[in-house]
Amino acid sequence: MRILAIDTSCDETSAAVTEDTRVFSSIIWSQASLHASWGGVVPSLAQRMHRERIDFVVQKALSASHCTLSTVDAIAITQGPGLAIALEVGIAKAKELANKYHKPLIAVNHIEAHVLSPLGCPKNLEFRIKNLEFPCLGLVISGGHTDLIQINKIGDYKILAQTQDDALGEALDKAARMLGLGYPGGPILEKFSREGRPDSYPLPTPMLGREKEDAFSYSGLKTAFFRLIEREKPLTKEKICNLAASFQDTAFNHLVRVLDYAVSCQQSTVSCLLVGGGVSANIEVRKRLRNLCRPLGIKVLFPYSKKLCGDNAAMIGVAAHFKALRGGFVEITAPLDRDPRMRL
Ligand code: KG4
Ligand code: ZN
Repeated sequence: MRILAIDTSCDETSAAVTEDTRVFSSIIWSQASLHASWGGVVPSLAQRMHRERIDFVVQKALSASHCTLSTVDAIAITQGPGLAIALEVGIAKAKELANKYHKPLIAVNHIEAHVLSPLGCPKNLEFRIKNLEFPCLGLVISGGHTDLIQINKIGDYKILAQTQDDALGEALDKAARMLGLGYPGGPILEKFSREGRPDSYPLPTPMLGREKEDAFSYSGLKTAFFRLIEREKPLTKEKICNLAASFQDTAFNHLVRVLDYAVSCQQSTVSCLLVGGGVSANIEVRKRLRNLCRPLGIKVLFPYSKKLCGDNAAMIGVAAHFKALRGGFVEITAPLDRDPRMRL
């Protein structure tokens, strides 16, 4: 089934054409530079930019895959979670196209799409992993979520751990802002971290010894980091690099410790960990997760391209493929509404 997928959940206007798990085209028009001067996403600006850009992005995705709206079989759209007034734009467009071209509509959960994004593969590959054995684990590390998920089978999920406060990407964004490094902070912090020493400043690892609580927490670390920066002012380039490296190191340590504990509690052996979300593009976090999983015999799968880590419509197409296999089409298009707090 060839799917035209659309995502407007936050500050990326994105459309893609996919077939099963293969990505034929993926267009992402980021608004990050427009929101940067505000230090974060401004919902009304995001909505306006989605409205202005959506037709162009959809056309680009179709032409890049040599498809037309007549030759796609279904339309997939992010229903939630995300920014309400941003989601609204994509949903209205998907409904309009589904009605006009008589295509079935598939409403996708954005978090499920991040979890399944590592299964997406380039057009010339048949699949990314031949037999995914269940249960396996999923980890979504993004600006809005830090979710560790048990995947009993595709479509059947159990949350094992969630953040109590900030998401990992959000914490990295806030740390970068405190250092005056701009938005989005995760990739900038990663760049500065490469030139810094992670052990230069001792920061408290969140929830040390409390891994049994199956939760992530970044707000205490954020406060400790703020106080540390105040003490270290005025900041030099060297200090910024060391501070960035220390924050990133502590934040990732916490992630890995909770994951380690959760894996050790799994009753059946887990053979695979699927990792998605914007932070999964980070080289250091990839290294840490691989180092944790290798001795345990767990294969770690990240999206094949960085373009599939952050928000993108290709992952919506991949998740929609699996949803279509279980008959998950929208029965009546008109009442389909955004669900900003949609749960997995
Ligand atoms: O998945 P995503 O694009 O949007 C949400 O669904 O939230 O994730 C965005 C988050 C931001 O916090 C951004 O700073 C972070 O992902 N991010 C990174 C990197 N690239 C994006 N964090 C660390 N290292 C990166 N290379
Ligand atoms: Zn996302």
